Amino acid sequence: MGTDSAATMALDTGQLVLRGGRPLRGTVTLRGAKNSLPKLMVAAALTDAPCVLRNVSGIADVQIVTELLRALGGEVEEVEPGAIRISTANLQPMERFVLRDFSGRSRIPILLCGPLLARFGVAPVPSLGGCRIGNRPVDFHIAALQQLGATLHEQAGASHLSAERLTGNKIQLDFPSVGATEQVILSAVRADGVTELSNAAVEPEIMDLIMVLQKMGAVISVDVDRTITIVGVKRLRGFDHEAVPDRLEAASWACAAVATCGRIMVRNARQADMMTFLNRFRQIGGDFSVTPDGIEFWREREKLRSTALQTDVYPGFSTDYQQPFVIALTQAEGVSIVHETVYEDRFGYVEALNRMGARIQLYRECLGGLSCRFGKRNYKHSAVIVGPTALHGAEIHIPDLRAGFSYVIAALAATGESTLTGTHLIQRGYENIIEKLTALGADIVAAS
Ligand code: EPZ
Repeated sequence: MGTDSAATMALDTGQLVLRGGRPLRGTVTLRGAKNSLPKLMVAAALTDAPCVLRNVSGIADVQIVTELLRALGGEVEEVEPGAIRISTANLQPMERFVLRDFSGRSRIPILLCGPLLARFGVAPVPSLGGCRIGNRPVDFHIAALQQLGATLHEQAGASHLSAERLTGNKIQLDFPSVGATEQVILSAVRADGVTELSNAAVEPEIMDLIMVLQKMGAVISVDVDRTITIVGVKRLRGFDHEAVPDRLEAASWACAAVATCGRIMVRNARQADMMTFLNRFRQIGGDFSVTPDGIEFWREREKLRSTALQTDVYPGFSTDYQQPFVIALTQAEGVSIVHETVYEDRFGYVEALNRMGARIQLYRECLGGLSCRFGKRNYKHSAVIVGPTALHGAEIHIPDLRAGFSYVIAALAATGESTLTGTHLIQRGYENIIEKLTALGADIVAAS
């Protein structure tokens, strides 16, 4: 069995052995964003008309939503490589047995509540999956749906929502939650009247969803103060849309280039979506060139510079940039500080990094910036990174998606061999990761 197929098989069984020390050099191509594609598929459930979605990748959440829509009587078929046609004309109400098969696998199913309430007046509330990076409740989702007129019926482990009609309302989010913002948009678009959502999230993936809905006939505006206004409409038509490329994957490859002293061209990467990241990347000693085809990343400075930053909602430094960026900071001269303000528990991966030779200390205090809602609540959500440190191989179990890719970067920057287990989590968000790493010259030793 060749290295590639054995390594691919290893990924399916969740184990990967990498030998570090080689710079990653070459080209990778981005496809649709993991945090956009599945939501755009849910938007197709708002109309009986056929919808075509392009730039589709084979990541887990796309598979899960495909299975879910089909289980509800929808049709999802590939019309050409990277393009699917979705028709939900025959969609049925979601029975609990259907949902049981999807519980715990993804955070996307809860976004079907709005479309199902609009079509059938009833929607079960799924228990969700997603990366273990905090307790990730759905209280904002449920509260917003109740403010739009839905009633929550709670039975032991089998809650559902009902609504004769959804009615527009003024909704204020306690925190600019991406998922709750998407929930409101997908629910208010078919409600009676106008919904005004303040303190909304405005990530590029949310703009992608708003553009799809606008193509379908919706009237949605985004104000400078992050208030999103949705005018409810009676009917929506189909769409043909190319999903926004994955800025988070692009940032991961940029950090891999810096950590391995390589040079990586990320085709389809868009400067407009990742300007905050690009500034920070340049400040620590990375550099990049923007071309019509994408962005090429490399390490400009022999000695990387340390920095202090905090994660924030868009256009701030995204929480999903944090993990790969910390790997780069382990190679920077001096002391860096990263204050994670979006999730309370997103530094779980640091323990294994320290076993690889990194010097990272976690603190409960809000360090390096403004205080956040996690301060003094016993969450270790600030990290201090002392560098540069020589990383060496280790045995690592992957806790979540972004940390998983970050361990890959660390293993490739380290001397010696690293064995990563639980690598199926990487496949959730990074399509064809083995092929991409192989193309960049990574030294992959397939696990048997
Ligand atoms: C989306 O998750 C992304 N996932 C995450 O990416 C991303 O990190 C996150 O947004 C923040 O940008 C997808 O889009 C599939 P949130 P989501 O609601 O919507 C709290 C990745 O690796 N909260 O913005 O689930 C929550 O606990 C993943 O690509 C509530 O308290 O995140 C968190 O502290 C990881 N109650 C904060 O808000 C709620 O009802 C932000 O969560 C909802 C959220």
